[in-house]
Amino acid sequence: MNDTKRKILVTAALPYANGSIHLGHMLEYVQTDIWARFQRAQGHETWFAWADDAHGTPIMLSAQRQGITPEQLIERMNAEHQADFRDFGLSYDNFSSTHSDANRELVGMIFERLRDGGHVVEKTISQFYDEREGMFLPDRFIKGTCPKCKTPDQYGDSCEACGSTYAPTDLIDPRSAVSGTSPVMRDSEHHFVRLERFGDALKAWTASGALQSEVRNKLQEWFTDGLRDWDVTRDAPYFGFRIPGTEDKYFYVWVDAPVGYMASFRELSEREGLDFDAWWTPGTDTELHHFIGKDIVYFHTLFWPAMLMGAGLRTPTGVHAHGFLTVDGTKMSKSRGTFIMARTYLDHLDPDCLRYYFCAKLGPGLGDIDLNLEDFVARVNADLVGKVVNIASRCAGFIHRGFDGELAAELPEPALYAEFLAERPAIAADFEGRNYQSAIRRIMALADRANRYIDEHKPWLMAKEKGREAEVQAVCTQGINLFRVLITLLAPAIPFTAEKSATFLGREVRLWSDLDQPLVGARLAPFQPLLHRIDPLKVDAILEASKASLQATESPAATDTPARDLDLAEEIGIDDFTKVDLRVARIVAAEAVPEADKLLRLTLDLGGQTRNVFAGIKSAYDPEDLVGRLTVMVANLKPRKMRFGVSEGMVLAAGGGQGLFILSPDEGAEPGDRVS
Ligand code: MSP
Ligand code: ZN
Repeated sequence: MNDTKRKILVTAALPYANGSIHLGHMLEYVQTDIWARFQRAQGHETWFAWADDAHGTPIMLSAQRQGITPEQLIERMNAEHQADFRDFGLSYDNFSSTHSDANRELVGMIFERLRDGGHVVEKTISQFYDEREGMFLPDRFIKGTCPKCKTPDQYGDSCEACGSTYAPTDLIDPRSAVSGTSPVMRDSEHHFVRLERFGDALKAWTASGALQSEVRNKLQEWFTDGLRDWDVTRDAPYFGFRIPGTEDKYFYVWVDAPVGYMASFRELSEREGLDFDAWWTPGTDTELHHFIGKDIVYFHTLFWPAMLMGAGLRTPTGVHAHGFLTVDGTKMSKSRGTFIMARTYLDHLDPDCLRYYFCAKLGPGLGDIDLNLEDFVARVNADLVGKVVNIASRCAGFIHRGFDGELAAELPEPALYAEFLAERPAIAADFEGRNYQSAIRRIMALADRANRYIDEHKPWLMAKEKGREAEVQAVCTQGINLFRVLITLLAPAIPFTAEKSATFLGREVRLWSDLDQPLVGARLAPFQPLLHRIDPLKVDAILEASKASLQATESPAATDTPARDLDLAEEIGIDDFTKVDLRVARIVAAEAVPEADKLLRLTLDLGGQTRNVFAGIKSAYDPEDLVGRLTVMVANLKPRKMRFGVSEGMVLAAGGGQGLFILSPDEGAEPGDRVS
């Protein structure tokens, strides 16, 4: 084993403080936690520090909507997030908030150094401004009609229907998504970080082995496209840190978010007496590892290292990106109940079960990870309960009944024990390289071997024969020792079960090197069930609860609903209205358009005629749930050619408040019926 003691700081991406933790987040946090626990089990000095990401426009608006201050909102969410994390067994050493004194100070320091180094330029930019709300509008908060294909209701930066990208100013009839009013153009002075100046240093860092090959390739593309100046300013009102020397300018949330890693570690350093500066000096022998999702690679491999370089600080040793969680093969879905909150899971099942399953599925790459619910139940029950825990319970029974809990003084088959230990380096290399699925395959192969050993010796038969007591004790001592190896190797993935096992073994389950000495002549504590089989009904209950909580969040109490400003369109006469031919249609087929985030392709039956219509309702509906339903469509809309085909009409949906809701006639209406 590796004797050199490493010093490692591990982080996971900071969850936004305006939402609850779901299983997608947990995939990353479990991946991170397994790695941190694994490193500690090798005896390395390992710290896991992170925080909530508390700043930005959405958090500001969310607090406003709830009628509380942003500070109240982020405090409430911090407590909720931490309760979820603790109950999932995350072994972090510090969890802070980006809205902290330490972070404000470090962000200021880094920005000052960037400015002193000549890496910051100021430019006047012209941006949409919402006069009613008195705020500049981020691209995401502007909607309008696509200038290319004329699809309405597109975001300010790109069109979901035709895929073209543009400036918000190109939109036809732009609207503020906050107030619904038409924004005006207004000038503002912004600070930009001159990324191109770090081009060569970033290329060198990219080649240092910090990145996965897929990520390196992506970076090559970005380098080829050229590194543009990065706008780090946001205008008031904004929830964030004010830029020193300005009255009404704030740091963009993505400036202070990664600094939050550093600030959290600074708080930890003060508590633990660590040499903070030494960890952040270029050339340090300490390691810095960031675990992130594939959606935020750009921020962690360009902006963040450039900021560190510009401020004369160390760069990350590794940025490890993972893919997205799907449930039963598709994106987590609210209506199907597969958009599962961490707390909903915890209300029904043991955290180790999900941790184990994620571990068994995670590899080193960026591929998406599927939580297949049937496979989840089968695998946890077969592997963890059937193969691992079962060895302990089988052997413990004999040791307690026949020998008062005392193990034999030596192993009957030290060679078999040595075989198990011989797998340690390969399993360690798998964990180190985040190839957890390979580690689990190896460990389960050992579990099979251990079960075979017991089955071959059949202690349950020996126990019935006189004079074979010593043999029973020896075989079961061997079994308990093989179990101890398995649970020690699995402990990073299933900490709660490992903890219970430690109690039963009367010995800490911690360092992998502790396994060098087998456990002999020792007394076992009374056996307690380590892990229960998953009852598939519990999984159904989780799905049901997830659907129910969706309904709860979609019908907020009256006080949660701000007064709507209807901002009505221009008045029309009845003649204008009757030009629109509205008909009842039945949805006979529905499928997602994979290339467009928001679109579903619907096949509509108008009572004889069928129509192909693209509808921007993917976020609100699963295609399967729509099939068979009646809805209302504009039947005489001129066909529009879109990137994926021709759209021959439009489906009516209500939107703008809590979600999107397609309109349906009451029962009895038939396809083709006129709507007026
Ligand atoms: N606040 C930023 C990160 C700032 S880091 C300096 C953010 N927050 S997030 O809450 O949207 O996501 C936090 C992490 O969870 C990200 O790494 C993201 O990729 C990950 N995931 C969020 N949903 C996910 C899935 N459905 N599946 C897997 N990971 C997902 O981004
Ligand atoms: Zn378009």
